[in-house]
Amino acid sequence: MQQPASSILQSDSPYFGEAHSADVVNARMGEHIDARLRQVMTVLVKHLHAAVKEIEPTHEEWFAAIRFLTETGHMCTDWRQEYILLSDVLGVSMLVDAINHRRPSGATPNTILGPFYIANAPEYPNGANICLDGKGEPMIVEGRVTDIEGNPIPNAKLEVWQTNDDGFYDVQQKGIQPDSNLRGVFASDAEGRYWFKSVKPRHYPIPSDGPVGKLLGAMGRHPNRAAHLHFIVTAPGFDPVITHIFTPDCPYLSEDAVFGVKRELIAEFKKIDDPEAGGRVGFSSPFWTVSWDFTLATSGKHTRAIP
Ligand code: BEZ
Ligand code: FE
Repeated sequence: MQQPASSILQSDSPYFGEAHSADVVNARMGEHIDARLRQVMTVLVKHLHAAVKEIEPTHEEWFAAIRFLTETGHMCTDWRQEYILLSDVLGVSMLVDAINHRRPSGATPNTILGPFYIANAPEYPNGANICLDGKGEPMIVEGRVTDIEGNPIPNAKLEVWQTNDDGFYDVQQKGIQPDSNLRGVFASDAEGRYWFKSVKPRHYPIPSDGPVGKLLGAMGRHPNRAAHLHFIVTAPGFDPVITHIFTPDCPYLSEDAVFGVKRELIAEFKKIDDPEAGGRVGFSSPFWTVSWDFTLATSGKHTRAIP
């Protein structure tokens, strides 16, 4: 009798059996397929079969899993990507990001992008106020963009976005919030400095009215994200940084729903209770200040190459 085509097979049989199930499936792959696809599918099949063997699901449980994935797909629209949300709450988005952005120490780390980034937000001069709905506690954000050696990076692009004080992004409340509320694009000056006005961010729940929210609840987890401002900082010759800064006083700091918090991204927010100082910057008192520097790594050097 002819031997099985692939040497991957550990058993002698090309027929399905529980013990060597993953090998039998993987041995079916064609000889002339893309090498990366072969690697990815081999690993996925191996771990999926191992998980099923460890869990030993009933037919009903397996069907519940299929139904969950089906509902997750049905929840997806141009505005809602439930699979990304699933990847986020399982920590996979953060893991993929960590693997692809192993930066030198001292460089500002990345964190999750999230679904509420919009390209081409309004460009503002430094000092502008991005809060257009007047809600929340006023805040000034200022700092520098530098390279690892501390040299200023002029004309770096800083894109910023955050929720309003009700815990929603502008795009979640079209017609309720002003368009482009709490988002804008700034450029660092000749000394690498940037500054703008906004409001102190607050914690908010990720969209939890779909299958992922139901799963979180079933796992005894809440959907809240620790209070943060989003940034994308880019400059020619440097790795783009997709990141947040977090408030230190948020009750969800150590239990962010999508594992986005990194210790290095927790900023100091100072409360200024001084009407005269407030008057100088056009704020009522009290108001908040946060000073935050972005340190960019030289591009290419630390980015993972595609095999
Ligand atoms: C956000 O921070 O905007 C976000 C991140 C992941 C999932 C949902 C929202
Ligand atoms: Fe966010």
